[in-house]
Amino acid sequence: MNSSTTHPIGIFDSGIGGTSIWKEIHALLPAENTLYLSDSKHAPYGEKSKDEIIELSIKNTEFLLEQNCKLIVVACNTATTNAINILRNTYAVPFIGIEPAIKPAALKTSTNTIGILATKGTLNSALFEKTSNNLDYKINIIEQVGEGLVELIENGKLHSKEMTALLEKHLSIFLKNNIDCLVLGCTHYPYLIPQIKKIIGSQITIIDSGEAVARQTKKVLEKNQLIRLGAPSKNCQFYSNKKIDSLSEVLRAYKNVSIEKLAF
Ligand code: DGL
Repeated sequence: MNSSTTHPIGIFDSGIGGTSIWKEIHALLPAENTLYLSDSKHAPYGEKSKDEIIELSIKNTEFLLEQNCKLIVVACNTATTNAINILRNTYAVPFIGIEPAIKPAALKTSTNTIGILATKGTLNSALFEKTSNNLDYKINIIEQVGEGLVELIENGKLHSKEMTALLEKHLSIFLKNNIDCLVLGCTHYPYLIPQIKKIIGSQITIIDSGEAVARQTKKVLEKNQLIRLGAPSKNCQFYSNKKIDSLSEVLRAYKNVSIEKLAF
């Protein structure tokens, strides 16, 4: 057995949103040791310049590599769309990224109109533009920046009046434009699904990329002979460089994880 199979999978995000991806990875690959870095101190990345997002992504990656991570999941659409090419060209470990699932939505739509809710940094990125322009079918893509949503989630206001009001404001454009698929282009947003459904109803399909990222992680681990099989891991560590309350809240159901504050 390759000795690095026991090394952790490193996962980072600008905050707690990437835990939605960690949950999918942990469900599919329970034997894997994992190390999650929440850079909540610098959230939201979506309002930062490309250079700043690259700089933070490099810093997060170097931290995870110092902890011997065997593969890195960039569990942030904003960091993926702005920085993953540079990360892949700089470091030898495999990287898995996450991008808004517009291709699956384009294949599914009947109204030929899909919506995408994402950060400004993702919607303005060259990678997002390339993916949307390279679709096989011509469809209408209604884009909306989810301004303020990440901040409310990071600040423990997932279920608040402010959140409901902000969601109603951001989602109204989709209702006006007859979309039938809504792509969630930010890893924080899966935590909003029950509230989003209340506003947009059951006729619109919500699509996110979490499961696909977990499947891709498995495929790349297998290809590189890095996969860990066997008993469920007892080593799933979470670090945040801000308060750990919001992180602990989204991981409430997981009893065997360790959550610590980190000076980072
Ligand atoms: N979870 C990040 C993403 O997927 C949020 C970005 C932000 O911090 O604005 O894009």
